[in-house]
Order: sequence, then C-alpha cells, then structure tokens
Amino acid sequence: MKQRQVLLGVTGGIAAYKIPLLVREFVKRGTVVRAIMTESAKEFVTPLTLSTLTGAEVVVGTFPSAGSGHAHGTWHIDLARWGDMLIIAPATANVVARLAHGIADDAVSTLALAYRKEILVCPAMDHDMWEHRATQANLSALRECGYEVLPPEVGELASGLTGPGRLPEITRIADAAERILAGSRLDMKGMKLLVTAGPTIEAIDPVRYIGNRSSGKMGFAVASAAARRGAHVTLVAGPVNLRTPRGVARVDVESAAEMDRAVKRLHRRTDGIVMAAAVADFTPVTVSRRKIKKSTVKGGTMELRLRETPDILKSLSTLKPRKPLVGFALETHDETRNAGKKLREKGVDLLVLNNPLRKGSEFGGDTNSVTIFTRGGKPRKLGILPKFGVANALLDRLVRFMAKGGSGGRTSPGTGRKKPAAGRRPGKKSSARRSRR
Ligand SMILES: Cc1cc2nc3c(=O)[nH]c(=O)nc-3n(C[C@H](O)[C@H](O)[C@H](O)COP(=O)(O)O)c2cc1C
Repeated sequence: MKQRQVLLGVTGGIAAYKIPLLVREFVKRGTVVRAIMTESAKEFVTPLTLSTLTGAEVVVGTFPSAGSGHAHGTWHIDLARWGDMLIIAPATANVVARLAHGIADDAVSTLALAYRKEILVCPAMDHDMWEHRATQANLSALRECGYEVLPPEVGELASGLTGPGRLPEITRIADAAERILAGSRLDMKGMKLLVTAGPTIEAIDPVRYIGNRSSGKMGFAVASAAARRGAHVTLVAGPVNLRTPRGVARVDVESAAEMDRAVKRLHRRTDGIVMAAAVADFTPVTVSRRKIKKSTVKGGTMELRLRETPDILKSLSTLKPRKPLVGFALETHDETRNAGKKLREKGVDLLVLNNPLRKGSEFGGDTNSVTIFTRGGKPRKLGILPKFGVANALLDRLVRFMAKGGSGGRTSPGTGRKKPAAGRRPGKKSSARRSRR
C-alpha cells in the first residue's frame, strides 16, 4: 500500500469508533488517507480525530461549512478524481440502501456516485438488519453494479447479541483493500470496447414474441470487468432485468435487427468487440399489427413462418476496418466440434463455448464453465467460475491478442495510447442513443 491514496467514507454505525485504528493501519502501511463522513457518523467518531490522524481536512456532510478547506463548490467531483480507491467503513444498512438506489443525499453516497475507481463497502450492523431481505437485495444490487463488498464477521455485536454483522478486523479490511489494489489492473485503459448481452426478442404480434432464456449476466460481467480495467465500454443489451454496471454506457435494443443496427453503428468507434448476446437465429416473416385472435386459427394448430435473422457475428468479421472479435457459442451437444466450426466460419478471433445443460453453466446462474478457443491454439477449459472471473479470463486473452497486434488492434493495451485510425476523431462522442448509469 506504499504511496497509495485511499478515500475513507465513514457512516453512522457503532463500529465507526474503530475507524481511527484503520486510518493508523493505512498510515503504517505508507498509505495517504482522506476521510469523508456522514452527519450521523459524527455521533460515533469526531471529525477532529480523523483529521488529526489523516493530517487532512475531513469532509462532513454534502455542504461543508466555510473554512473547512472543502467549502469550494464541487468538492465531490474533485475528490472523485483523487485516490486509488474508496472504502466505505463501516457502511450502515442505510448507506448500503442509498448506494443501491443511486441516492446521493450525504457526503459519502454523493462521492460514491461520482467515483469511477474501485469501491470497497464494509457493511456492519445488527444481525437482524444484516439478514433483512431489503439489505441483502441492496447488497446484491451493489455487487451487480461493480462494488466490492467485504462481508461482516460473525461475532459479538454492540447490542450484546451474537451473529453476523461485526465489522471485520482492521487488518482484514486493510488486506482486502491491498488485494483489490494489487489486482486492479488498468491494462485496458483508454480502450473502447463494445459488448453485447442478453437475448433478443422477435415480435409475432403486438403482444407475443419469440425469445430465449439468456439472462444477460455473462455479457454484463464482461462489461463490468472491462470498465474496471479502464476500458470505455458500450453495452448493447437486449431485454434483461439487470442494472448497468458502474461506468458503462448502455444502449437498449429488442430484436436481432435492432442489435445488428446498433452494433454496426458503433463498430467504427470501437477497438474490440465481445458478442455475448444470445441473438435469435429466426424471426417471424410477418408481424401481425393486431393481436392474433385464437378464433381466427383454424383446426387448433397455427403455422408461424420464420426467416433467418442477420448473422451479426459473421458480418462483423467482414466489416472494415477489422476489429478484434470475441464470439460466444452456446451448444447443447457436439460442443467442441460445433465450436471449432463456428470459430472458423464466423471469422472470430476468440470463441467462448458454454453449455447451459452442464452444471455451473445454467441459464440465469452466477457461474459459468467455459472453454476458450483461439485460432491455431489449443482450447483452454476453465473450471466453474463466477461470471466475473470468466469475464476477466476472457479479457486477459483479448488483451494479449491485441498486444500481439490482433486483427484490428489499434489500442496498445496497458498504455491506453491509440494509434491513429482513418476517419476516427479520438474522444468524439457516439451519436448512438446511450445512457451512462
Ligand atoms: C447507538 C446506535 C448505533 C447504531 N449502529 C448502527 C450500525 O452498526 N449499523 C447500522 O447500519 N446502523 C446503525 N445505527 C443506525 C444508523 O445510525 C442510522 O440508520 C443512521 O440514519 C445512519 O446514517 P448514515 O447512513 O447517513 O450514516 C445505529 C444507531 C444508533 C442510535
């Protein structure tokens, strides 16, 4: 942690009395610390204690008073650019809920919303508060958004009761921060990555559609992991029930044709593409403008004529300029043979094979067990991993491929420096319908 800079967000839980010791631990490890507090946190630890130990002004509340050193307007934006990571410890049930819903009505949650680097949340509370469905749902939402959560320990609580909810030992928090910083690579800094995720749905009439069981979790994990490695990620998502990862720009689409158009529009402005979406292969030949009434169907059966949808993956491999391209293959039988064929026929550089019928790779699950195929290389089978781990393993290979001058690799991974490309103005914003959430 030498020469690292850490922002420490303190909220109003009883464990805040331990935070001066956390500051001491960081300082001992050579880390520069600056603290921010909620108004409630002042009830448990004084700003004077924290400013004395950090050697810096402490921001308390969203509107710091004159003379506090942070009384100039946009302190939250200035501090958001400072430091290597933000640690929120202790994190109350209240602040966890606010972060999960993007509410920014105190100094800590305001800063967190503006912060683009790693955020470690250390919840600590009474065990009933910890086990409450609302708290657990809020924590899942935080993880989905790309926050790291250090779970509390089981032990004696301030109330005298015993259970989960204790703030982990100070050295464990400092170690967790160290691990995150050591593992936080910025090897995709400046790279523009286009990721697709989720299913597409193909309308039959205004009410019905043909869809598939893709949850979008794998593609969202790729987008989240790439953003945390410094990439500018645009995520083209089919209809899914997932939150946009922190720092990712999202374009929502429904059908295969819409996804095709969105991807082609964004193609020029990207340095690499990961096609994790489960795009429909077929779509109805005609879409009824009115709901098809059961009474109009003769003899109890109905025929639906389907035509092929655009083969987005294949067409991307032929577009100029050629961009490094990762495809996903979902196979339920003859997996290796089918994946090898897809790798050759679709012209992709890396192919990720998964089988939803296998344990650990089920639709909607949080894990995946994949095999990564490369052209000319031996397939690499990964065990069952969280989808975020699969995403990072895949990005490792993509970064290596691009560093070797992969098919269209114009970004030098790790440096973020880009080689000039014809027709492209660096930093120019996409005209696509986007939302950065
Ligand atoms: C004595 C006392 C101890 C508290 N300890 C905790 C705690 O450990 N964890 C928690 O989530 N809330 C705790 N609370 C409740 C919070 O202080 C309360 O929800 C507050 O609004 C949190 O504000 P903040 O999230 O803006 O800091 C405690 C309240 C009191 C009165």
